[in-house]
Amino acid sequence: MARLALVTGGTRGIGKAISLKLKAAGYLVVATYAGNERAAEKFQVVSGIPIFKFDVGDFDACKASIEQVEVEVGAIDILVNNAGITRDSPLHKMDVAQWSDVIRTNLDSCFNLCSCVVNGMRERGFGRVVNISSINGQKGQFGQTNYAAAKAGMIGFTKAMALETASKGITVNTVAPGYIGTEMVRQVPEDVINKHILPHIPVGRLGEPEEVARCVVFLVSEDAGFIRALP
Ligand code: CAA
Repeated sequence: MARLALVTGGTRGIGKAISLKLKAAGYLVVATYAGNERAAEKFQVVSGIPIFKFDVGDFDACKASIEQVEVEVGAIDILVNNAGITRDSPLHKMDVAQWSDVIRTNLDSCFNLCSCVVNGMRERGFGRVVNISSINGQKGQFGQTNYAAAKAGMIGFTKAMALETASKGITVNTVAPGYIGTEMVRQVPEDVINKHILPHIPVGRLGEPEEVARCVVFLVSEDAGFIRALP
């Protein structure tokens, strides 16, 4: 029986590439989304991957939806916490909602989803968790105190959870992509991309979602059982 992977924000951008690559690698996959109904429905039709709609920042919604996935599809062996948003603004102009929306969606979501699946993984003696952080959680970024804090928080969360679950056959890792050519990055004004972002990318181009997805497929495999708490 193929292992079941749940990818949050799995119908667009990096998450979509992860969902598709996991399916191609033989996993059962479910993808979650929160807002973009049209993109999610198109993704479901084209990929054949079931979709579930809920807010990853809302604990009760996560709990109810995970229970629904477990009843309708099966136990979750692999969790990819990919869902994330930006609300970019320099700190001196950032309001409380811009701060808390990002912390809630990008960081609270790790607690919400992991706490819903960790007991099942412990009981079954197997689990893979991959948290999609960002280069900006490691180096900081102008206009992203909220996002950088959340993405750095994911790294600490990963390291602590990895220690707690290592003896139970569960690995927890972070992937911290650089700038990938997704809708999220395309929202950044072109002059900012050209002046402040591209010159700092050694290969001189944005990454492709598939280049991140390949790494995730490796980390969730049986072969990656000794790899914990990257980076
Ligand atoms: N470094 C240094 N200076 C920068 C800068 C940077 N990265 N980005 C902008 N500036 C400068 C501008 O050139 C401008 O300078 P001048 O006034 O001299 O022309 C000034 O800062 C603009 O400052 P403002 O206070 O007017 O800022 P603003 O209210 O217009 O907001 C911003 C600007 C929304 C933050 C905009 O700069 C921006 O979108 N920056 C990009 C942030 C970013 O990289 N986001 C990543 C999104 S994708 C993602 O997050 C995925 C991932 O994981 C990588």
